[in-house]
This record gives sequence, structure tokens and C-alpha cells, in this order.
Amino acid sequence: MPLPSARPIALFDSGEGGLTVLRHLVEYFPQEKFLYAADSGHFPYGEKSLEEVRRWFLAFVDFFNDQGVRAIIIACNTATAAALEEARQRTSVPVIGVVEAAVNRASAISENRRIGVLSTEATYRSGLYPRALQNRDPAVYVVSKPCPVLVIMAENGHVDGIQVEDEVRQCVSPVLAEDVDTIVLGCTHFPHMRQVFNRVVGDHVRIVDPGEEIAPYLSRDMRLVKTSGAQPPVAAWTTGDPALFTTIAAQLCPHIPVVTRPLHWRGGKLTD
Ligand code: DGL
Repeated sequence: MPLPSARPIALFDSGEGGLTVLRHLVEYFPQEKFLYAADSGHFPYGEKSLEEVRRWFLAFVDFFNDQGVRAIIIACNTATAAALEEARQRTSVPVIGVVEAAVNRASAISENRRIGVLSTEATYRSGLYPRALQNRDPAVYVVSKPCPVLVIMAENGHVDGIQVEDEVRQCVSPVLAEDVDTIVLGCTHFPHMRQVFNRVVGDHVRIVDPGEEIAPYLSRDMRLVKTSGAQPPVAAWTTGDPALFTTIAAQLCPHIPVVTRPLHWRGGKLTD
């Protein structure tokens, strides 16, 4: 059985959203080393242009290369929409985006071929999800809805309660009205509110969380083996406030130990 490698696997998000991907990975591969980097200083990516997101995210790819990582997971739909292919050209290690895994899952489980996608504004503007879903099945009907308020709530650790439930209902209602049988949480911040989504959506509609789909990809494409044991602390960096990042991360994912360091923008590049 191959042993876990000493070279870490990197995850990227604009903030706390990528933790919803990380939490599935540490459950599957607790003995792997993971790095997490957040561009919290530029959060929220959803309100920025795809060109800005592309530029910032590619600087993180360079940073990860300098760290000697063995794979990069773009745990951010917006950055995946902005620069997946360019990231792949910029590094020799595998770059895995969340969108493909989510699209594959949604296409596989939707029976009535009517799929809803909730995302950031920028992912919505990019048209990536409808394009990818319709590439797989031209007959599929896709209803997309940006939900920017939910992104901010999750980033601040507000993931349950009446206000969150009202906001989730506002986002989901017009999508449910289109008779979808599957909803993709197309922003990694949203699975932090999974309980609320389950309550609001009900049993007759399936929810796709891209984070749940990434571990099988790593098993298949990188031959990672499911392990058991204690998870070493995750080394995290943020361009925002490290103490705040750690506090919210501990609130959202208490079982993942995270040690956060600052990362600084200097002339378009990142230095720690
Ligand atoms: N979590 C990110 C995504 O999946 C981006 C949220 C944001 O910064 O707007 O798109």
C-alpha cells in the first residue's frame, strides 16, 4: 500500500469556503499533509471581475509551486471559472477544480434533467456551470442563481438561524419553482449551511456538494489511498487577518486543527 507522501496537497479559496472541501479530504486521507491558502484580503471574489480573480489566483499557483506541493485543489468555484486552464499550464502538478466533479455528479443523479446551480455573481456571469452541464447533456435545463449574501454570511461564520434560513429560502425558492430535482451548491461557502439547505429544500430534491466529490477524484487520479489516524495540523495562510481566519475556521470546522500565517501581496506576488 503506498504511504502518504511528504509533499503536501494545496487547497485554495478566497476565504473560509474551501474548508468545506478540506473537511471531506481530511476525513478520507487523515495522514496526508494539506496546505490551505485564502485570499481573504480580496474576499469576496464573487463581486470582482474574472480578470482580477484570474490574476490573484495565478499568484497563488506560483506560491504553491514554491512550497513544493504535489497537487493543487481549487476549492473555489469562482477561481475555477476564472483560470482553471491557465493554472494547469503554469504548473507541472495536477490542478483539480471543483466544477467538473460537481457537474459529473449532478448529471449522474438528475432524473428529470432539470438542475439548479447556486453560486457567486462572478461564477454566474462566467456561465461555466450551464456550459459544462449542457456539454455533458445538451437536453439538460439549467437554472442559475447568484446568492452573494450567503457567501458573506458563511465567511463571517453565520451558518444557521432565522436570518440564514430566510436568505437560503429566498435563493432556493425561484430555483425550486422551476421544478429542478437537483441543486448544485456552486460556491464552496454554501455547504457550511448544509443543514439549512436540507431543511429548506426538503427530501425530493438532491443537493450536490462539490467538496464531497473531490476525494474520489484524488483516489482515482492520484492513487491516494484512504487512510485512518490523526490529522496533523493544517498549515494555512491568509492575505487577511490570520487570527480572525483561525477563529472562524475553528467555529466552522472545529475538528480540523488549523495554524494560520499571514501572506502579503508585494508587486502582484505573494510572500510570507
Ligand atoms: N468560495 C468561493 C466560490 O466557491 C468564492 C466566494 C467569494 O469569494 O465570493 O466561488
